[in-house]
Amino acid sequence: MIHIPVLIREVLEYLDPKPNENFIDGTVGEGSHAIEILERNKPEGKVLGIDWDAKQVENSKFYTSRFKERIIVVNGSYANMKDIAERMHFTPVHGILLDLGYSSWQIEQSGKGFSFNKDEALDMRFNAHNPVTAEKIINEYSELAIEKIIREYGEEKFSKQIAREIVRQRKIKKIQSTFELNNVIERAMPLKSRHGRIHYATRTFQALRIAVNGELDNLQKGLLEAISILSPGGRLVVISFHSLEDRIVKNAFKYAVNNKMANLLTKKPVRAWAKEMAVNPRARSAKLRALIKI
Ligand SMILES: C[S@@+](CC[C@H](N)C(=O)[O-])C[C@H]1O[C@@H](n2cnc3c(N)ncnc32)[C@H](O)[C@@H]1O
Repeated sequence: MIHIPVLIREVLEYLDPKPNENFIDGTVGEGSHAIEILERNKPEGKVLGIDWDAKQVENSKFYTSRFKERIIVVNGSYANMKDIAERMHFTPVHGILLDLGYSSWQIEQSGKGFSFNKDEALDMRFNAHNPVTAEKIINEYSELAIEKIIREYGEEKFSKQIAREIVRQRKIKKIQSTFELNNVIERAMPLKSRHGRIHYATRTFQALRIAVNGELDNLQKGLLEAISILSPGGRLVVISFHSLEDRIVKNAFKYAVNNKMANLLTKKPVRAWAKEMAVNPRARSAKLRALIKI
């Protein structure tokens, strides 16, 4: 499945790549945004792509060859982008993009259990060296800890019921697959809440993915690193997909402005047009914020 880049027109407007400028794509994924940047910063401009999923680095071979030495993709977390940029002698940095969360390839083909629509092992790690999997959380954490994860990271109002049902079920048999977890969530939900606007398992799956990967801590750290390594006049563009992420971006940007490190390019988050939402479901929840370093 091809990853359709979200808010591509808006990303290019706010990142504003010019010939010979350098950009970091901290979540390079299938490279759809990076390719568009490389079309605009030629002939000498470079892109440093970072992805925490080593498989995405392998996948990048399909598009990097045509840009030769103008793109390099490394395996790592954007939370450590300062070290990575230093190690790669990648300077000056004129713009940084973060397009958070998971990609179409990861949902459809990684086999990591990101989706409740596919029967797969409960893994959910972007990085295979991470010791925590979704299966570990579900089968080993206390009921209270599971409830907290689902409530805080999923903003799920039935977190208590779901955590209770998970613990009841795992005493009978370990919960090992996405479909098994899906059935447990379904049983825990009141009948009328099983047919809402979003699928009843969405919030729990989101919560587990955030917890497994420490996504909110990564974001907090990554934003500060990004602002610190940008050159004066450099731009940071962040696309988030749920309110927890957007709140962190909003507050980090506010901190940068209050400390005279940056100015906002977007007073309010930019949303996709209805036309994009119609062809790309991921765009429905996307919010873009951008700043410019002073
Ligand atoms: C939404 S996708 C990016 C898609 C990309 N912009 C494109 O257009 O093809 C997010 C990517 O970020 C990666 N990712 C998640 N957390 C990360 C982290 N902490 N550091 C680096 N990459 C991360 C995921 O593995 C995934 O490939």
